[in-house]
Amino acid sequence: MKLTVNGVTHEIDAGLAEMRLLDWLREELGLTGAKAGCEIGACGACTVLVDGRPVKSCTRRLRDVAGKSVLTIEGLTPLDGSLHPLQQAFLDAGAVQCGFCTPGMILAAHALLLRNPAPARAEIRQALQGNLCRCTGYQQIIDAVELAAKSYQK
Ligand code: FES
Ligand code: FES
Repeated sequence: MKLTVNGVTHEIDAGLAEMRLLDWLREELGLTGAKAGCEIGACGACTVLVDGRPVKSCTRRLRDVAGKSVLTIEGLTPLDGSLHPLQQAFLDAGAVQCGFCTPGMILAAHALLLRNPAPARAEIRQALQGNLCRCTGYQQIIDAVELAAKSYQK
């Protein structure tokens, strides 16, 4: 069973087929950007992209994603230590407090902006409806996505 994560293809032992994607990313690959929040598919803190679509990694077993391509927040972050435009926009718009929801928010927003680089606020709200934030407030998060959208418009 193969799985590509952030551009690197991994061969996974069939014995791990029932392991949750969230646990495998965090425990086997050390990619701790995806957070374990509710662990029942309700909060979005564990969101990663699978073949470009937001997926709650606590709800998927490795067998569910075999052969697919996963993007985590670590894969979105530039290797030179700079920030991705969405990460910068979250800082600039004051859209981060504790940060627990932020990797999932950013990945869900990234998927939206790739398919629609000029979304209306209502479309941003809809795209992020599966991601809960307990501290920042959604206005600043939507502001951040609007701010970052410019960098997707080419
Ligand atoms: S931890 Fe996966 S949706 Fe909450
Ligand atoms: S910044 Fe704390 S949950 Fe969103």
